[in-house]
Amino acid sequence: MDSYLQIFENNKAWVQSKLAQDEHFFEKLARDQKPHFLYIGCSDSRVPANVIMGLDEGEVFVHRNIANLVVGTDNNINAVIQYAVEYLDIQHIIVCGHYGCGGVKAALHPTDMGQLNSWLQTLRDVYRIHQHELDEMDDPRLKFDRLVELNVIEQCVNIVKIDHVQRRWYKTGFPQIHAWVYDLHNGLLKELDVNLGAYFSSIRSIYDLNISDD
Ligand code: CO
Repeated sequence: MDSYLQIFENNKAWVQSKLAQDEHFFEKLARDQKPHFLYIGCSDSRVPANVIMGLDEGEVFVHRNIANLVVGTDNNINAVIQYAVEYLDIQHIIVCGHYGCGGVKAALHPTDMGQLNSWLQTLRDVYRIHQHELDEMDDPRLKFDRLVELNVIEQCVNIVKIDHVQRRWYKTGFPQIHAWVYDLHNGLLKELDVNLGAYFSSIRSIYDLNISDD
């Protein structure tokens, strides 16, 4: 069977398996969503959010784009974050990069990639911010891995810059922001060993919008 048509067969089989476990599964799921997590990850087909997190339908709100970027002028991600924070009352935002990310790799080697140039510019900015550390690394593999990690950290910083995130944080102490990397070679997620709180404090004088508790 054509791989496209096969998807509908897969879908029917999935529906049947869900109903076999719980005949009211879709009825319950359709009522509302109350996910606890917002996951921002890469579009890479090898990194499916629900699957790697072991979460079921309804448990994680997901946004994916090339190289898990949080770009201040991107209406799409701004809407996702605002909805997650203000309406879903999500308390944990996860930015999850992955080793071997094609987007990050492209940013390491300046090349004209047409429409992708402006998107990759954000990644090149991450490289520029951390150029001193990265250019001291002789092993290209380690340098690539480190840029993946630094990109996740900088995207977490980009979330802190957002006004409605700051508003909610001042009011409730949430959302908490988490920097993760997924390893394609062993399937494991890891939380980056970085003190985001201290890092945020060090740049607070630049990005704190002084939003008062309303
Ligand atoms: Co990627």
